[in-house]
Amino acid sequence: MALRVGLVGWRGMVGSVLMQRMSAERDFDTIETTFFSTSSAGKAAPEIEGCKTYDPILQDGNDVAKLKGMDVIITCQGGDYTKTIYKPLREAGWKGHWIDASKILRMNDDAIIILDPINMPVIKNALAKGIKDWIGGNCTVSCMLMGVGALYKAGLVEWMQTSTYQAASGGGAPNMRELLTQYGALYAEVKDLLNDPASAILEIDRKVTAKQNAFTSEEAANFRGIPLGGNLIPWIDADREDGTSLEEWKGGAETNKIMGIANKILGSNEAPIPIDSTCIRVGAMRCHSQSLTFKLKKNVPLADIEQMIANDNEWVKFVPNNRIDSEKQLTPAVVSGTMNIPVGRVRKLAMGPQYLGAFTVGDQLLWGAAEPLRRMLRVLQA
Ligand code: HSE
Repeated sequence: MALRVGLVGWRGMVGSVLMQRMSAERDFDTIETTFFSTSSAGKAAPEIEGCKTYDPILQDGNDVAKLKGMDVIITCQGGDYTKTIYKPLREAGWKGHWIDASKILRMNDDAIIILDPINMPVIKNALAKGIKDWIGGNCTVSCMLMGVGALYKAGLVEWMQTSTYQAASGGGAPNMRELLTQYGALYAEVKDLLNDPASAILEIDRKVTAKQNAFTSEEAANFRGIPLGGNLIPWIDADREDGTSLEEWKGGAETNKIMGIANKILGSNEAPIPIDSTCIRVGAMRCHSQSLTFKLKKNVPLADIEQMIANDNEWVKFVPNNRIDSEKQLTPAVVSGTMNIPVGRVRKLAMGPQYLGAFTVGDQLLWGAAEPLRRMLRVLQA
């Protein structure tokens, strides 16, 4: 029998990407869909390409009785929705599968962070134990593991450090709009000078810098008043007041959790792998990039490491470590909107043969958000 699947938050940025991917992969052919809304219940359900078996009326996303009729709920509605509805729904006796893009339940002992090309054994183990909460990971972590998960699967990582270059999309749709508006404002500021070949570059630079620093709080509202156009911001998410940001903490906590390390419910007593991050917002649109440094537990020949990375999953693309391939294949602009996860700049570092460098790029909205959710539905159907 087809699973009854409730979709909440299908209209937002991640939800819209999810709808596109579910259409493209014909996921709707195999389910009975109910669209929920927290603001427009009672109106007509959306017409989504390929979605033929669905409740024609938008149902109320806060109606626990209606939600209880679902075998699976997938929500991209955000953390506040999860905080409001998850507990009453479970308390009402709902035993279905909850698939969630938000972080609220992510670190619960009985929730699994889903990234099936990397942690299918963890997911299968959890399914066998009756776990029902499946949570999408932090985008940076998911994109990193899609690229270099092979090294973790092989138990080769002694520690890892990542410096991230995170796109505006990680902050949300308004952040992407703000970035482009700022680029436009900066261009407008010096357009006449740029059109004059005799103008002085230092004058152009001075005007751009002055404009960046003069953006009003409205013009830079989405990045806490800091300009992102032509700039970078070396802090993402809350200050943990121990010298790290919440985004940086997630790197270690979530990577270990995804790999099933130190998860007592799943029977792992392994010590967590030390992972440290410096997370930086840059003026890219929707791809997160990362520069990775590993210490490996042993000296593995570079060619073997390259093979392991290249063969790990069908989306990872190994990029030879030379100038032309790196420039052409390892940029946000070329990866954006694709499922590809290029990994390049792979090399042994000057510190010794156990030290490895790499660089990877991933679409924050695809592997970083929507894709693991729809794939979990497929896992539940298998
Ligand atoms: N926290 C991420 C970012 C997005 O700000 O880029 C969500 O995973």
